[in-house]
Amino acid sequence: MKNIAIFASGTGSNARKIVEYFKENPNFSVKLLVSNRADAPVLDMATENGIATLILSRKMFYESEELLTALQQHDIDLIALAGFLWLAPPYLVKAYEGRMVNIHPALLPAFGGRGMHGIHVHEAVKKAGVAQSGITIHFVNEKYDSGSILFQASCPIAPEDTAADIARTVLQLEHRHYAPVLEELLINIPKLHS
Ligand code: GRF
Repeated sequence: MKNIAIFASGTGSNARKIVEYFKENPNFSVKLLVSNRADAPVLDMATENGIATLILSRKMFYESEELLTALQQHDIDLIALAGFLWLAPPYLVKAYEGRMVNIHPALLPAFGGRGMHGIHVHEAVKKAGVAQSGITIHFVNEKYDSGSILFQASCPIAPEDTAADIARTVLQLEHRHYAPVLEELLINIPKLHS
């Protein structure tokens, strides 16, 4: 059994899709939901599904390696960021090299970097007048949105589409692709602690 930790601090629609996708899978299991917001709605979803939760403080994340202990306790093989905005600290990047991915709601390397999250991404895409947007699933390194790309999918943008329209279409792409891409990666990585 290989185990997944999801890091999420927003509404958690991607986290929910991932949990649903792996629910009946005998090989892979979502074991832990990590959030930096104690009031994130995604925590309720985790609890309802019997998934352990961990609330991170900045101090714990950046000034200790307590998180690594928790990840080890839950035997976590893969970390999926889904709406988690804190930059990963070096100890985490190192411990989960090739095993930590993020999903970004645009076609990187464009429209990424600090501050490029949520509706800001889609507003920038709209302003640029490009003909398509999409999603990027990439490995996480010590800089925002710049790790190597694992998967991209695109969608067309009509001239009359608003940023909110683009956001909706892109979110559907995220929901369709994130979990299967994670599954493929899980198949290809060995267990971290054997
Ligand atoms: C998604 O758009 C994802 O690309 C980004 O954060 C958003 C999370 O949305 N990293 P949700 O909380 O999963 O609905």
